[in-house]
Amino acid sequence: MLKFSISPSLMCADIFSLREIIRSFEKCGIAYLHIDVMDGEFVPNFCLGTDYCRRMKAETSIPLDIHLMVTKPLKKLSAFPFGEGDIVSVHYESDSPGNTVLALKEIAAKGGRPFLAINPDAPVETVKDFIPYISGVLLMTVYPGFAGQKMVEGSLERITALRKLLDESGHPEMNIEVDGNVNYEKAPLMRKAGADIFVVGTSSILGPGDISENTYKMISLLEEADR
Ligand code: DX5
Ligand code: ZN
Repeated sequence: MLKFSISPSLMCADIFSLREIIRSFEKCGIAYLHIDVMDGEFVPNFCLGTDYCRRMKAETSIPLDIHLMVTKPLKKLSAFPFGEGDIVSVHYESDSPGNTVLALKEIAAKGGRPFLAINPDAPVETVKDFIPYISGVLLMTVYPGFAGQKMVEGSLERITALRKLLDESGHPEMNIEVDGNVNYEKAPLMRKAGADIFVVGTSSILGPGDISENTYKMISLLEEADR
């Protein structure tokens, strides 16, 4: 099983305390910073954008995890500052399969880690045709667009099925990133089902309480799930 990583969802972080929050993530050894980009079209909401990613890259060496919830990401990719080791996810639902492959290839060509994002309604088998072009899958456990939702039923079974599919296709090294309602109770269950990157927001570390304490609590719960 792959080592687990945590990717805090920055849309859930208080903008007025952002620098302090990033310092605390650096101290806790956080692996990625999840940046939700929304265009008001692919999802009914607007969120973080290119300048935000640029400022974040200048501020910290933690790799970015850019989640593009935009229509036709292929046309928009060049506006984003990403490079070696940054995850960039494009949604299966956001363009034709051919353009999605081109977008994934462009991400890889710039040194990024291309991930295919799939909504809760997409069968996990959707991923099969994209395996040659990806480093991992961003499995939505809520419908994308808003923080603070409840996990869609059947998500744990989808993680198990996707892990099986990737392993049986000869790709145990491919990440499964889960996004949406990753709370202290569900994260260990998601881990046991085969997830390895955890997007954490209002449901856990960026909810009530001290961010460092919350982060260490999440890390120790995931470590416990591995024992
Ligand atoms: C959607 C977002 C949300 C959210 C995660 O792409 O990434 O899922 O901010 O945090 P929760 O679900 O805990 O509010
Ligand atoms: Zn996201």
